[in-house]
Amino acid sequence: MLEEEYQPRRELPRHLRAPAPEDPGFSFELRPALLSDMPAVREIYNHYVRNSAITFDERASSLASMRSTFQTTVAQRLPFIVAESPSGQILGYAHVLPWSPRAGRRVVEDSIYLGPAAQGRGLGRVLLGALLEQSKKAGVKRVVAVIADRNADASIHLHERLGFVRTGAMGRVGFKFGRWLGTVLMEKKL
Ligand SMILES: CC(C)(COP(=O)(O)OP(=O)(O)OC[C@H]1O[C@@H](n2cnc3c(N)ncnc32)[C@H](O)[C@@H]1OP(=O)(O)O)[C@@H](O)C(=O)NCCC(=O)NCCS
Repeated sequence: MLEEEYQPRRELPRHLRAPAPEDPGFSFELRPALLSDMPAVREIYNHYVRNSAITFDERASSLASMRSTFQTTVAQRLPFIVAESPSGQILGYAHVLPWSPRAGRRVVEDSIYLGPAAQGRGLGRVLLGALLEQSKKAGVKRVVAVIADRNADASIHLHERLGFVRTGAMGRVGFKFGRWLGTVLMEKKL
């Protein structure tokens, strides 16, 4: 074959591909987070602070600020969940916080982060599903997701899968790694 005739192998779009085979080595349990989980939660979050524009934070989160987020969530009787491996490793976490002080706890914003090795194995879907269920039980009426508009396909797809709809976008509201970034806004009524 001549070099100019070479065509890269075509790949089916994601929705037409066969589901990934279940990974028997990957198991986890969901449980309410504890204050003592915050060092592991912080480590996961700071991985994305350092290596991605998924969060616009440029400075690593301190343990004190992670603990304060946890305490604010719990004080509002809102869910903060961790996924734990059988060996006790925190694989990921998800929580909600009031979207604005004016709306109180009826309207919340979600946050979900998995350790890099736990991505793309179905955990995000289970974890966000549990977060929505627990939020509804806690009296939440609406959940807002604010998602970076670049390199966040997994998050946008996951939220769409769980019934979120796109309600807007914001232009240049973040600046990281020398460039301006925007956000996609999504909402789900519970
Ligand atoms: C976003 C995140 C929570 C998703 O969790 P996950 O376990 O990786 O996703 P899942 O394996 O449960 O997949 C959920 C859906 O997204 C799809 N998906 C997964 N990775 C994808 C990617 N890179 N691009 C497009 N779709 C993707 C899956 O195919 C699945 O869709 P399906 O149900 O139609 O098959 C996780 O990847 C993560 O923590 N990413 C980094 C942090 C982040 O982006 N957090 C969100 C901030 S708003």
